Amino acid sequence: MTSALCSCMTSVLTYETYKSVVVRSWPLGIMYRLAQLIIISYFVGYVFLYEKAYQVADTNIESSVTTKVKGFGKLDNAVMDVADYIYPPQGEGTFSIITKIIETDNQFQGRCPEVWNISDMYFPNLDKALIYLIEGWCPAEDDKVKMKPMPEFVNFTIYIKNSIRFPLFNVTRGNFNSTKDTKTCKYDKIEDPFCPIFQVDYILNETRQNVTTLADMGGEIGIIIQWRCNLDHDVNFCVPKYSFSQLDAPFQNAKLSKGYNFRFAKYYKTEDGTDYRRLHKAFAIRFDVIVTGTARKFSLIPTVINVITAVTSVGMGTVLCDLILLHCSKRAQYYKEKKYEEVLYEETAAAMTLEPYPSPPIFDDRNLKETGQTSIVFLSSPL
Ligand SMILES: *[C@@H]1O[C@H](CO)[C@@H](O)[C@H](O)[C@H]1NC(C)=O
Ligand SMILES: *[C@@H]1O[C@H](CO)[C@@H](O)[C@H](O)[C@H]1NC(C)=O
Ligand SMILES: *[C@@H]1O[C@H](CO)[C@@H](O)[C@H](O)[C@H]1NC(C)=O
Ligand SMILES: *[C@@H]1O[C@H](CO)[C@@H](O)[C@H](O)[C@H]1NC(C)=O
Ligand SMILES: *[C@@H]1O[C@H](CO)[C@@H](O)[C@H](O)[C@H]1NC(C)=O
Ligand SMILES: *[C@@H]1O[C@H](CO)[C@@H](O)[C@H](O)[C@H]1NC(C)=O
Repeated sequence: MTSALCSCMTSVLTYETYKSVVVRSWPLGIMYRLAQLIIISYFVGYVFLYEKAYQVADTNIESSVTTKVKGFGKLDNAVMDVADYIYPPQGEGTFSIITKIIETDNQFQGRCPEVWNISDMYFPNLDKALIYLIEGWCPAEDDKVKMKPMPEFVNFTIYIKNSIRFPLFNVTRGNFNSTKDTKTCKYDKIEDPFCPIFQVDYILNETRQNVTTLADMGGEIGIIIQWRCNLDHDVNFCVPKYSFSQLDAPFQNAKLSKGYNFRFAKYYKTEDGTDYRRLHKAFAIRFDVIVTGTARKFSLIPTVINVITAVTSVGMGTVLCDLILLHCSKRAQYYKEKKYEEVLYEETAAAMTLEPYPSPPIFDDRNLKETGQTSIVFLSSPL
């Protein structure tokens, strides 16, 4: 028992180090250092400086958006204000500016003819209206009427209030500095990039939309607020960046549901208590305020992990040079012999040496007596 423990202890309490083969070669040496340099510059330049692997990121941005639109327009000689053209009116992050409304007045429940133009269907030679009787709100809507949209919407302004929080770092920010006077400013990506007031004109120009078509058919536009914050710097550098995009671009050439429109109705009662309604088909520009963000800050754990990865990866240079030395060089066999020292395995060695290999473990009675041990001991063969 004690000898087993002893040999175990000696094998644990030893230090092993690797024997190296030094190859005095300029080209290989240059290649080795070059490979190391590339690996080091990849880690320093890309992983640490560009990807900022020493930081931990929070992408779970919490955000709240309220909007307010201002401006007056004229539709069908009627002056329209915010209450008329904004839908829904609560000032949410998603809202529509109505540019054109087709109204159908005095609809009652009943049976009435719905007009279908046969030339819109499959018989182009017949120019005769086909008439169906439908049950529902009458008279039926005719949404084919031509109508001029409200042109002034391009001069409307949209005010956006956005507050965000990064829960991991407990950092709260707003999209403008509340101590500054922002009432009269106008957003411009170069002149005034932090102003929260946007002119519709500007947004449509940024998304390269045809204003005439948009006013006529409606459309969907995204106002994207991007927060990319490096919290290792002063928190005042944590500011939003705005961009605009046409969200319905994939359906621009679609035959069906082109543009954007929706219907709503207002209900009234006649004196004798019968319900009737006024139906509106509204063509609108729908704005979606989309908030995205990432905050980053130094953290010890990713730093340590990435430093270790970098240090380990520098060893890849050895793998590359070994590959060339042992497989691609002219004297590959010579280097192989130098690098790999061949040692024969037990049986072969025993057969080749003159001295007989020590006999396999046997039970030795004498040995027991000499050491005075009472337990059974097998002599182990020396290596
Ligand atoms: C039907 O369509 C044709 C061609 O598009 C048009 O000339 C005609 O006025 C339309 N008729 C009705 C009743 O809408
Ligand atoms: C928008 O405002 C400008 C300047 O106030 C004005 O010249 C222009 O006519 C307006 N556009 C529309 C469509 O009303
Ligand atoms: C977050 O920060 C605010 C002050 O900026 C502090 O009042 C609040 O206690 C903090 N919350 C947590 C969970 O640390
Ligand atoms: C707001 O702006 C003022 C003056 O430019 C500056 O001193 C202050 O720190 C800013 N406040 C915030 C919360 O950014
Ligand atoms: C529209 O955008 C183009 C290119 O970005 C710019 O040159 C032009 O001045 C803009 N027009 C208006 C009215 O902002
Ligand atoms: C917008 O589209 C209309 C009809 O499709 C066209 O007549 C007009 O020239 C276009 N405007 C611009 C600025 O491209």
